[in-house]
Amino acid sequence: MIRLAKRAGTALLSALMLICCSCGESSDSGESSISRPEQVQSKSEQRVSDDSTADSSDGEEERVVFDLQAGTVMLNSGYEMPILGLGTWTQDDDTAEASVYTALKDGYRLIDTAQYYGNETGVGRGIRRAIDEGIVTREEVFVTTKVMPSNYDRAYSSIDESLERLGLDYIDLMLIHQSGSGDTEVYSALCQGVRDGKLRSIGISNYYTLEEYERVTAGADIKPAVVQNENHPFYQNTQFKKDVEKYGTVVESWYPFGGRGHTQDLFGNETIMDIAKAHGKTPAQVILRWHLQAGYITIPGSQDPEHILENISGFDFELTEEEMQRMTGLHTGQRYENW
Ligand SMILES: NC(=O)c1ccc[n+]([C@@H]2O[C@H](COP(=O)([O-])OP(=O)(O)OC[C@H]3O[C@@H](n4cnc5c(N)ncnc54)[C@H](OP(=O)(O)O)[C@@H]3O)[C@@H](O)[C@H]2O)c1
Repeated sequence: MIRLAKRAGTALLSALMLICCSCGESSDSGESSISRPEQVQSKSEQRVSDDSTADSSDGEEERVVFDLQAGTVMLNSGYEMPILGLGTWTQDDDTAEASVYTALKDGYRLIDTAQYYGNETGVGRGIRRAIDEGIVTREEVFVTTKVMPSNYDRAYSSIDESLERLGLDYIDLMLIHQSGSGDTEVYSALCQGVRDGKLRSIGISNYYTLEEYERVTAGADIKPAVVQNENHPFYQNTQFKKDVEKYGTVVESWYPFGGRGHTQDLFGNETIMDIAKAHGKTPAQVILRWHLQAGYITIPGSQDPEHILENISGFDFELTEEEMQRMTGLHTGQRYENW
């Protein structure tokens, strides 16, 4: 069954080789442009295995392949995940409802929340409103939430509480929010959630070394589909991304812009501004495009409808290899948080 999932990844790679070179033309106009992407066709029905195990112990290398045209990646769980989504940290229920609804109307299909954010109810309302209005179907939306540390001693029942608040009957991806006492047991509870059909994919957040990744998943028969970490041009998870790729695990960037209070460090960076000018794009669009081309899922946070639209228009241009190298060269190791 695992082989079937791997074959799907190979087929995706072949398709990519045919289409990836036509990712779009860059503009030299010097004007910032905003364009709506094609709506990402959900292929989440393409689950090819009832066994969510991604076992690399057979010596075969797992692959992580981004389809930049479709805007998706095949996870090691057999489900496809959109590679660009909306972050909702700091948004209360009403704000989250509005921004999630706006994002879904603009073509977003990935929404990130957490028990800790206190807005799962609002996120769920925004999703259901979009479903009720025929904008999306449930299958087309990919919803991520996270178990918060104060629930680590009752992680399994907190899955049911998240489902209740979201008003959904399954969660696409559930993460351990951060390392902490009992996190290995939390991971086991998430595995049980998959077996019980409550969760489709699972993962971890704020684990920055292979050693920590392997500690928290020790003995588990399901490897994380995703690790969500602080990741941006100044703090790139380059080695860690390579390390976990052997398990078919994808790295997802939080703070793609450095987070509130720090965005101008990135938006005002000369290299980023220079590349943005060359493409007639905004610094935000260039940063997001870098995340995607570098192989990171990304979830910029915004409650501003103009920013929400601006942030999903990174699928109609491509950074050159030289520009990617210049962006890679911005890594200084500077983090904005320490959790
Ligand atoms: N797992 C974890 O521990 C963890 C930690 C932090 C965050 N996260 C997740 O990652 C998501 C992203 O992080 P974040 O939201 O904290 O930080 P971020 O995405 O790096 O930055 C958000 C800030 O950027 C602004 N912004 C967004 N788009 C913009 C644009 N096009 N032009 C100018 N400003 C723009 C937003 O303001 P406006 O609202 O005005 O657009 C907001 O102030 C979060 O929302 C959350 O879902 C996870």
